[in-house]
Order: sequence, then structure tokens, then C-alpha cells
Amino acid sequence: MAIPAQSDGTQEKAGGTATLTKGAAPGETLLKVTGLQKHFPIKKGLLQRQVGAVRAVDGIDFEVRSGETLGVVGESGCGKSTMGRLITRLLEPTAGKVEFQGKDITHLGVGGMRPLRRDVQMIFQDPYSSLNPRHTIGTIVSAPFKLQGVQPEGGVKKEVQRLLSVVGLNPEHYNRYPHEFSGGQRQRIGIARALALNPRLVVADEPVSALDVSIQAQVVNLLDDLQDELGLTYVIIAHDLSVVRHVSDRIAVMYLGKIMELADRDLLYKSPMHPYTKALMSAVPIPDPARRGAKSERILLKGDVPSPISPPSGCRFHTRCWKATQICTTTEPPLKELRPGQQVACHHPENFEDQAPQDVVLLTAAKEAAELVSEDALAESAATSAAVAAEVEAESPADTASDGGDEPAAEGADDGENAGDGAGNAEEGDSGNAEESDSGSADGSDSGSADGSDSGSADGSDSGSADGSDSGSADEEPPAKGK
Ligand SMILES: Nc1ncnc2c1ncn2[C@@H]1O[C@H](COP(=O)(O)OP(=O)(O)OP(=O)(O)O)[C@@H](O)[C@H]1O
Ligand code: SF4
Ligand SMILES: [Mg+2]
Repeated sequence: MAIPAQSDGTQEKAGGTATLTKGAAPGETLLKVTGLQKHFPIKKGLLQRQVGAVRAVDGIDFEVRSGETLGVVGESGCGKSTMGRLITRLLEPTAGKVEFQGKDITHLGVGGMRPLRRDVQMIFQDPYSSLNPRHTIGTIVSAPFKLQGVQPEGGVKKEVQRLLSVVGLNPEHYNRYPHEFSGGQRQRIGIARALALNPRLVVADEPVSALDVSIQAQVVNLLDDLQDELGLTYVIIAHDLSVVRHVSDRIAVMYLGKIMELADRDLLYKSPMHPYTKALMSAVPIPDPARRGAKSERILLKGDVPSPISPPSGCRFHTRCWKATQICTTTEPPLKELRPGQQVACHHPENFEDQAPQDVVLLTAAKEAAELVSEDALAESAATSAAVAAEVEAESPADTASDGGDEPAAEGADDGENAGDGAGNAEEGDSGNAEESDSGSADGSDSGSADGSDSGSADGSDSGSADGSDSGSADEEPPAKGK
């Protein structure tokens, strides 16, 4: 896919702030998170006394390396979006530290964050609510330039049209409104907005979960192409492993505000070590003809995810784990590197010698949970891991090669000149403020959009827009890639 080069990042960005070197050593630590927490206070009564807290993110450590894609998966409510908003500093952490390129940005104010907003961008979950229905595409994608006071070479309009080409949209649609586009196209608009400032790190919060399955692959492939062409670093958040398996270099599995396993993609698929990862793996659909028609055995987890207001003691997965023993109820297992490239928080990890729980007494609850995990399900899970691992391995080298052409993006793309510094970012707008807004905005997870740069966007937006739009325009979607 031919994507015109943006600024090489070695010069100063328009606006006067030193740019980070685009080509900075791949693999260097770009973002480092230590002990990160976000507890949303629960207040009651006339005096609004705090009576508790939602422990949305409850002490996580990880790093994101330059040029990689870190996938973050976990069930609904486990804190993925909150984590995304914390690392983009749209939320103020309760505790912990966020470092970007070695600089502590944990408590930077609006002014301090301003230059960083160009380097750290977010793509929101819901393309229907993250674009202001009253603004044209041109206004939406150019918002970052305005917010950052950046004047791209050649003018804003030309640059916005170039960005539209890059993401596979017709630059002539500059004056159209969001409701005239399909879901996939809207997500492309959100991506164009995020790319405007030529960022280094893009946090994509469930970028395809609101899209039709047939469109999902296109958007995922577009993100993949853009990464190759622009040297982007991604944190991609998803509900399940099927979306991130194609694009991630490493994957973090979250449960109730904690990271349960963090591993290189191949290791995670070949031999997941955390029982929860194993359960998620068993739900990954495999397009394997040999297994077509075979009844698929999923590892069923007992009960619902417990409340993040009072997570279970010890290992917070113990109420649903089929291997839980006494120690699991009292002692929280630390996230430890049990194999090179594979960190796990479990007292009795899978695929690891010496730590099987057979010699210790299973909790009664675990025995009940174990009944839901038949031998067949475990065998199926192992087969799934093997099949996905094979698929992942097979696709890895081909990935880049195949990307090429189908994206319409390519077409117009070339004509573009350099975006140079582009832009500000969407979120930016409120950016500054968005942050502390614990409550209000936060919730609406995706809504996050709120921060949605272009102004009021976030809010009601979609409403009207959603309507017919998609349908008609769907045809304009580029053909899916055969990934
Ligand atoms: N502003 C807020 N005030 C109070 N609680 C919040 C707020 N934002 C999020 N939460 C709570 O924090 C927890 C984690 O929410 P979050 O949106 O981060 O989860 P998620 O993993 O992104 O879920 P989903 O997959 O459904 O998007 C949830 O219990 C949610 O209700
Ligand atoms: S075996 Fe224990 S520590 Fe490991 S996931 Fe199960 S409950 Fe948690
Ligand atoms: Mg979310």
C-alpha cells in the first residue's frame, strides 16, 4: 500500500515543539507504566461522601516498545478502556507512573501535555459517537491542526485530503458529513484524525468491535499497513483474542483491573500459561477446515466477572478458576516472567512444570468450576492454541507482503505530499481537560470520544448520524484483504 511519507520526524514539528525521532530504535521502550491505578470514587448522600471505589485499573505494569503492537484483551469491564485513557492521559491516575520516552508524564497538566498530544493519539471504539454529526469530515480531520496551531505545508485542506486518501477515503468527500459514511468509513475518518499529527503511539480502543465482521478485517489491515508505512507503535484493545492475533507482537490479558498474562504472541498462542488466557483461547474461532463441523468445546467459566468495587482476595480469578487452591484466596500472585517473553500471574500456571495443583487441595468452588472444564474442553483448548499458533506463524512473514494493493487508500495516496507535522489530535481538544474528568466522561467508555476532539462531537453525536448512512455508502468500502 502506497502511503505517502509524512514528516520523517527528525525535524521540528510546526508549532515549535521538538519532534521525537520517527526512526528511533525499534524495540526501545516508548511507554512505561508502573503500578498504574485508577479508582473511581463512589459517592453517596447529601455530602457526597466517598463510600467506595471502582477499582477499574488496580496496579498494572507493562511497557510498550517502539514499533510494536501490544494487544490488550479481556472481558467487558476489566479496565481496558480506562487503561487506554490513562496512558493517553485523558484520565488522571489514582496512583502509579506513566513514562513516555523516559519522561514522567503521570501528572503533567494541560500545558505540559500539549506537545505530547501530538505523539500520543487515540482511536475510539465507536465510530458512530466519536464524530460530531454537525461537522464535515474536513472540519473533523482538521481539528487537530487547529487545536495545536499547526499549519501544514500546502495548507490544511490539502493535508486533510491527503490523510483521507491515506486511510482509503475519497478526498473529494471533504465536505460530507459523518452520516453519509458507513461504520467502517467512519472508523477510517477517526483513524485519519488520529494520524493527523504524525503520532508515535496510537492507542486504539476496540477499533473494530462496533463494525460489521466483514469490515473488521479491512480496518485491522489498514492499521497494520499504516504501522508499516509510518512506523507507528500501537496499543490495540479488544474483547477477545481473535482480533488482536493478526496484528499483535505481544499480548496482555487483563482481568478485573490486573494483567494476568503478558507474553509474546506466539508464546501466548502456543502455550498459554494463565488459566484465564486458556479460557479466552478456547473461544478463538479457527478457520480450520479439518475441524469444520466438529463440535467446539469452550472452557466455560463459572459465574460472572466479580465486581471491581470489591474484587476477590488473593488471585482475583480464584472465584472462577478450576485450579484454585487455598493460597489463591489469600495471596495475590505477582506478574512474573516464568519464561523469556512470558509473564504470568498465577500460583499454578498451565504448561509449566512443578506448579500443577494436583498435590494440593482444590477449593470447593474450584471443583465446581472444574466440572465446567471437561477434559474434552481442555484438549480442545490445546488444539485451538496449536491451530492458532500455526496460523499465526504461517501468516507472519506473509503479512506485510500481502498488504499491498487492495486498499483504495493506495490510489489517491500517492499524490500526497508531506504531512509533515500534522496535527493535533482529536482528543486533544478537550484534551487537557478531558483528563481529570473521572467521572463524567469516563464512563462512557467509548464515548471517550468525548474527548473527541472536534468539539462537542462526543456527545450525542451519533444519533442522527447512525441512520441510514451506512447502508448506502457501504459499497465504498474497500475489498477485504485476504488476511
Ligand atoms: N467514570 C467512571 N466512573 C465510575 N466507574 C467507571 C468509570 N469509567 C469506568 N468505570 C468502571 O470501571 C470499570 C472498567 O471500565 P472500562 O470501561 O475501563 O472497562 P472495559 O474493559 O473497557 O470494558 P468494555 O470491554 O465493556 O469496554 C467498569 O466497572 C466501569 O463500570
Ligand atoms: S490457579 Fe490460582 S493463582 Fe492461578 S489463576 Fe487459578 S486461582 Fe489464580
Ligand atoms: Mg472499553
